[in-house]
Amino acid sequence: MRLDKLLANMGFGSRKEVKQLLKQKAVTVDTVVVKDAALKVDPEAQHIAVFGERVQYIEFIYLMMNKPPGVISATEDDYDKTVIDLLDPFAQHLKPFPVGRLDKDTEGLLLITNDGQLTHNLLSPKKHVPKTYYAKIAGRVTEEDVKAFAAGVELEDGYVTMPGHLVILTSAEQSEIELTIQEGKFHQVKRMFEAVNKKVTYLKRLSMGPLQLDKNLKLGEYREITEEELALLIENK
Ligand code: URA
Repeated sequence: MRLDKLLANMGFGSRKEVKQLLKQKAVTVDTVVVKDAALKVDPEAQHIAVFGERVQYIEFIYLMMNKPPGVISATEDDYDKTVIDLLDPFAQHLKPFPVGRLDKDTEGLLLITNDGQLTHNLLSPKKHVPKTYYAKIAGRVTEEDVKAFAAGVELEDGYVTMPGHLVILTSAEQSEIELTIQEGKFHQVKRMFEAVNKKVTYLKRLSMGPLQLDKNLKLGEYREITEEELALLIENK
């Protein structure tokens, strides 16, 4: 890879700005000052430094966010803030995108990465990756609903869902539940409850496959996923 491309990719500015750094003799490759922007380098085999600090080449980024309500699960939007807008400039520079969508008003676990292969594996309908949600429901959720969800419910457009595992946490005028589904149809949880004449008033995703929302993350916060979490996600495919 060209030296200027590597440095630009790692957030050291545009190619033009990187040229300035090279001119200033700020860049070394294996301790030798380099001014040639086109020099071919191997960031894994060579020690590349800017102002004496080693440049770690990162190709992929994997972030877990506790998505807050009011932001869109997309890379850009004309009206609203997106989850990408909440990231620091270095993370943004790696051009990550959210893995699937949560509604604007939904909170909770959102994986954000630039790894297209992993994204494909997690979103592929064939893989049946389970997703668990916590929800508050206007109305009394009953054992009938548990059975209906276990059998699959017919949505308003005629689509019959795959079985969902519904756990009632509290059943009252306002109920609390956890629901695990293996699909990701548009507004699926809300539409499943509409199919049994109930309304979701609050929705939060708790897990996606082996990845659990880190309880220490406040709304809008994110962290890199650990090696262990990544290994579990990759195995899951
Ligand atoms: N189901 C929904 O209805 N909304 C979401 O954001 C996720 C699942």
